Amino acid sequence: MERTFAIIKPDAVANGHTGKIIDMILGAGFKIVGMKLKHLSLKEAQGFYAVHSARPFFGELTEFMSEGPVVVLALEKEGAIKAWRDLMGATNPANAAEGTIRKMFAESVGRNSVHGSDAPETAAVEIPYFFAATELV
Ligand code: CMP
Repeated sequence: MERTFAIIKPDAVANGHTGKIIDMILGAGFKIVGMKLKHLSLKEAQGFYAVHSARPFFGELTEFMSEGPVVVLALEKEGAIKAWRDLMGATNPANAAEGTIRKMFAESVGRNSVHGSDAPETAAVEIPYFFAATELV
């Protein structure tokens, strides 16, 4: 079994899409092993996205991610990392396939509704950024 880390971003939470996205996660066969609603501080968003700190969109990204509540999740499934990326769709919703979360809900490349770990090493850092071992079932 593999674990991945997911965020339902502020745009999707504010637009009332949380329940529909969780339904899609469960319908795709993921087990939710950790979940919480959280309003990130700017510092927490900057820490989470530190790998992107040199990118021109870093300020826009971290301000967006701290503008309102998010739902952070740890998901488990065989091949969870790829399966969650497939369900999210392409980063830019203009390129996202039909039936993916970003095609259905994302507003733009920045306000793109969901986040997912891109590799096992990333998931191994991102899950503990938000969850203590005792918070995972
Ligand atoms: P995410 O998977 O959360 O990881 C990094 C994020 O940076 C990505 O989703 C996008 O939301 C965001 N991002 C990537 N490219 C751009 C861009 N050109 N402008 C604004 N945000 C971007």
